[in-house]
Amino acid sequence: MRNLHWAFLAAWALTMGALSNSAAQPASSAHTLTRPADIAFWPTLGSTMRTDGTPAAIPRQLRQVQMEPSAYRRLVETLRLSDGDTFAVLFYGVEHDTTHTPSLYFAQREQALAMEVIDRSHPDGRRFYVFQSGQTSASPRPPGNECAVCHAARGTFDGTFAHMYPTLAPLNLRDPS
Ligand code: HEC
Repeated sequence: MRNLHWAFLAAWALTMGALSNSAAQPASSAHTLTRPADIAFWPTLGSTMRTDGTPAAIPRQLRQVQMEPSAYRRLVETLRLSDGDTFAVLFYGVEHDTTHTPSLYFAQREQALAMEVIDRSHPDGRRFYVFQSGQTSASPRPPGNECAVCHAARGTFDGTFAHMYPTLAPLNLRDPS
């Protein structure tokens, strides 16, 4: 089962393109991001369960979406995103515990961290980052990356998936249609 998780993660990494983030921080690399030390204290907006893509749709990865606390407060108060507002998604493999009735899936160790920082001066309106497990700094993905393409095309609120998060859904955050 564990091998399966890593196989999926590898496939995900390939889909996302080569993950070339370096632990080194060259002086020329503007906007290099350090993994937030306090991320465990960021409020959780919601969670999604990714499946293995088979008709049986077996859960294979839990994704927990979090937001930097002051940005979350500002969003709730103003109903808008501002420069610097930061989202995080923690990726976990899942384990199936059949000793419970009904059985359940619970999160395993962290596989990766994806982050998104609002930046209106950027062509995509935001910067995207991927931290592999254990990685403490990451460089922004280049403009027009696949993260930005999907978020721009499918996001429902300012390039985000606010409608999927129970803490934000009641605010009815939607782009004007
Ligand atoms: C094919 C579509 C797609 C691609 C490509 C994609 N995402 Fe997302 N992203 C989503 C969806 C759907 C969600 C909703 C939460 C979830 O899936 O767990 C999301 C949520 C997020 C969030 C939480 C805030 C928000 O915008 O709702 C972050 C941060 C994020 N993604 C980062 C990334 C990064 C970094 C990449 C590229 C390495 C990426 N995403 C690529 C679809 C995509």
